[in-house]
Amino acid sequence: MAVRDLSVEIAGISFRNPVLTAAGPLSRDGMTLLEAAHHGAGGLVAKTVSVRPAQVPRPNMAALGPGRVLSQRGLLNAELWSELPLERWLDREYSIALSSGLPVIASVGYTPEEASEVAAKVERAGVHAIEFSTHYVGQHVEIAKAIREAVDIPIFAKLSPSVDVRKVAKSLEKYVDAFVAINTLGPCLRVDIETGRPVLGSDNGYGWLSGPALRPLAVRCVADIASSVRRPVIGVGGVSSGADAIEFLMVGASLVEVCTAAIMNGPTVYGRIAQEIVEWLDAHQYESLADVVGMALPHLRRTEQRHPPARIDRELCTLCGLCERSCVYDAISIVRERGTIDVDAGRCTACGLCVSVCPHRAIELG
Ligand SMILES: Cc1cc2nc3c(=O)[nH]c(=O)nc-3n(C[C@H](O)[C@H](O)[C@H](O)COP(=O)(O)O)c2cc1C
Repeated sequence: MAVRDLSVEIAGISFRNPVLTAAGPLSRDGMTLLEAAHHGAGGLVAKTVSVRPAQVPRPNMAALGPGRVLSQRGLLNAELWSELPLERWLDREYSIALSSGLPVIASVGYTPEEASEVAAKVERAGVHAIEFSTHYVGQHVEIAKAIREAVDIPIFAKLSPSVDVRKVAKSLEKYVDAFVAINTLGPCLRVDIETGRPVLGSDNGYGWLSGPALRPLAVRCVADIASSVRRPVIGVGGVSSGADAIEFLMVGASLVEVCTAAIMNGPTVYGRIAQEIVEWLDAHQYESLADVVGMALPHLRRTEQRHPPARIDRELCTLCGLCERSCVYDAISIVRERGTIDVDAGRCTACGLCVSVCPHRAIELG
């Protein structure tokens, strides 16, 4: 049976699908949020606002890695928060976003005093929930308490990967309605070797890492939070496909947010990822999103040990050679003229690398 309903409810808010925008340049104002809605996002998280507009260094974004496939490239950024004044968001931008009919989540920062003042104002502007970022300040509990006292709508705490997310999530559990993990990682630095200068115009040239490289870290953080607290978790970090989103759902995320993939590929990514989730669920004969949410968590406690040698499924193998090239123990040999592939059982250590490089799932460990 084909999956048609991708809707998810968390904190009393209903999302038409689990793919949300994230705070960033493609949620920088009402029109970009409206465009995300038009292109199939399930909910709208807006760019972080604070008591004053950000003075953003320039340049403030640099793509990482070579190649023309933008979806596989990450970013360093030094963008800070919204350059628009708070009044502009309150008078205009949130209502444009709200006209989409989708849930709108305002992101607020940064000190407890600033965040609670801004939170009370954005609540009056009609947003459905508040995400707060602890990126620059820390002070998690103080900020959460201050916002909790200032508003009645749901509060989502967005955590940075540089903290002990289990500990912080437990300390915030009684104040917040959901967790968002993770913010960017850093600070990081890149230098243009043609000029000897940093690629970004921020202090020290520092920037923050996002995109595909962040995903394993984000997946771990979501798993840690989902297994420590009884609150929904929203996964963010390197989601650019339906399969990426499914990975987050399997470690307990209810929703995902997408930032870098939307920057690199444009706002059509939200609807595409939602569609790929449907296709993946159908292809794997799951009836709903709920069937996969949290599915991986029990396996994290009891990981399965495997044994050499690797076994090749010769029906699936195309002799592409990726396993042979990447086998650090020289255990795999292909003789193309004879159409054979062999694993030397004495050399194979069951390290697993070949399994992960094979594009055809043709290799298994014993
Ligand atoms: C250019 C840029 C600007 C961002 N601005 C914000 C922001 O204003 N507030 C915030 O909480 N996170 C901000 N983020 C972090 C993203 O929302 C997200 O947590 C992070 O980039 C990881 O997701 P991704 O790999 O999909 O980009 C920004 C990220 C980028 C790349």
